[in-house]
Amino acid sequence: MKTTPSSGSLTCIGTGITLAGQITTLSKDYLEQAEMVFGILPDKLSEDWVKSITPSYKSLQYLYGEGKSRRQTYQEMKDVVCQAVRDGNKVVLALYGHPGIFACVGHFAIETLRSEGYPAQMLPGVSADACLYADLGIDPGTTGCQAYEATQFLFSGVPLNTSAYTILWQIGLAGEHTLKTFKTTQKNLHAAVRVLNKWYPLEHEMILYEAPFIPVHHPRIDKFKLKDLPIMDLTSISTLVIPPLTGLKLDQESLNEFGLNISDFG
Ligand SMILES: C[S@@+](CC[C@H](N)C(=O)[O-])C[C@H]1O[C@@H](n2cnc3c(N)ncnc32)[C@H](O)[C@@H]1O
Repeated sequence: MKTTPSSGSLTCIGTGITLAGQITTLSKDYLEQAEMVFGILPDKLSEDWVKSITPSYKSLQYLYGEGKSRRQTYQEMKDVVCQAVRDGNKVVLALYGHPGIFACVGHFAIETLRSEGYPAQMLPGVSADACLYADLGIDPGTTGCQAYEATQFLFSGVPLNTSAYTILWQIGLAGEHTLKTFKTTQKNLHAAVRVLNKWYPLEHEMILYEAPFIPVHHPRIDKFKLKDLPIMDLTSISTLVIPPLTGLKLDQESLNEFGLNISDFG
């Protein structure tokens, strides 16, 4: 017979990228009312700010370790959060940005807890790409936009759609397959240039973007050519934005399906 779960629950919230200003009102309410709060936040300032809202805040950063597989770290983080829920607590897991974008611990914990009969939910937050669209003045609706985790893309051989924007997350870890270290290498970056050069000329201009964590700071917006990727200073928060080579074009074969002609568009 299935045992009845305790009264525990989980809500995963995002604190946004820029400190204090990008958390939603609803997420802040959950923080204030939580019995236990765990977090994976980018720096001490963000942690101190969450602690000022909820003294029960506990960082999960201690589970990371140089030489330790991040896969194991994420499992351990999930286990800590799930156990607190099983113990009957109303738990909040606070992650920076959006809690479910390029962030697996919340997804893992929700899946496990729901399978055990506990209420578990995720609330949306302001992610790095939301900031990017604002700071770079990009509307992904103009040409379309594709996004990949950099290493997964580089290892996959999937074709890129060069008529759309491309966003490569975690470019600072490009080609880092061991999941045990927090930096890429020059060798990996030269390999990344060769892969991207299948789709873009070496002179194609791209952008390294970093949204500020502190409201008075400015975003990093560094424009450079593909061939210069290996000499760029990449950090753990760098995101690579590749503007399209061409915009979207009308395709007569597709228009035929709608009984339309290119000339109908003037
Ligand atoms: C583990 S993911 C976390 C993403 C986060 N959950 C979000 O919603 O933005 C880390 C990657 O997100 C991107 N990122 C994180 N912080 C950023 C920032 N301040 N500016 C630009 N990109 C950022 C980078 O690509 C970085 O390697």
